Amino acid sequence: MTERNQTPISEFLLLGLPIQPEHQNLFYALFLSMYLITVLGNLLIIILIHLDSHLHTPMYLLLGNLSFSDLCFSSVTIPKLLQNMQSQVPSIPYAGCLTQMYFFLCFADLESFLLVAMAYDRYVAICFPLHYTTIMSPKLCLSLVVLSWVLTMLHALLHTLLVVRLSFCSDNVIPHFFCEISALLKLACSNTHVNELVIFIMGGLVIVTPFLLILGSYVQIFSSILKVPSARGIHKAFSTCGSHLSVVSLFYGTIIGLYLCPSANNSTVKDTVMALMYTVVTPMLNPFIYSLRNRDMKGALRRVFGKKTILFSVSW
Ligand SMILES: *[C@@H]1O[C@H](CO)[C@@H](O)[C@H](O)[C@H]1NC(C)=O
Repeated sequence: MTERNQTPISEFLLLGLPIQPEHQNLFYALFLSMYLITVLGNLLIIILIHLDSHLHTPMYLLLGNLSFSDLCFSSVTIPKLLQNMQSQVPSIPYAGCLTQMYFFLCFADLESFLLVAMAYDRYVAICFPLHYTTIMSPKLCLSLVVLSWVLTMLHALLHTLLVVRLSFCSDNVIPHFFCEISALLKLACSNTHVNELVIFIMGGLVIVTPFLLILGSYVQIFSSILKVPSARGIHKAFSTCGSHLSVVSLFYGTIIGLYLCPSANNSTVKDTVMALMYTVVTPMLNPFIYSLRNRDMKGALRRVFGKKTILFSVSW
């Protein structure tokens, strides 16, 4: 790790996904359609929430922010992945790589913090229904959103500055489909102990704490519903919280598996497939799981777009 060739690297090569050449087009079409669904689904939610005044409540404002975050999160990685699948030399300039890493971390954290805010909102709504409007005031909602943005930007900046300080030598091939921080660290020829330590500690704070808070609030929700057991109550609990919990566990499960329990044998294929789950699949599923099955959202669709959308919403 000492004095090797110290010419600074000007670009990286992204190896992309472990796909056979004959399946390249199939996967291109698949990712392109998933990306379009993500963009359209999330844009539809943002527009509906913006246009329909019935939806100007904390729950939907947070959801609008989550949709915005999902939209940006998938736009950080998928367009570049699609471009690289079509090009002979899948390269990315050094600055582009760091920018991608910054925004990737930014929106991944934002997603995590917003999921906490949404779980807290549901917790207050279900466990303290009479105090809901006083506790979840527009002011608190705005503060939660602003706090999430500030924390997420500082956290991403910290990691980015720690990576800028590293030097990269001759090896510039990233065995991944985007500039993922731990793949980048493996290429550095300076000491990365500090980076790894900070990833571990901050990862614990930014990912595990929100995950436990979310889990805690859903446990409270379930126990408060089960205190008055009725078939309807239980059905409602499972239909609203069950789907939320599945997104939450998909998102956090893969991230925790990747960053906090890295595989010893460098199984890059497994890492890449897991990364696909939270970069491509969760941003696409979130709008459907959180809102489009929901009665208020269907009502808003009808109010905003008029009768034209009856066909549209029946299909959901
Ligand atoms: C995000 O939340 C804030 C504060 O509640 C709200 O004013 C804003 O409209 C939301 N953004 C979106 C895109 O829904």
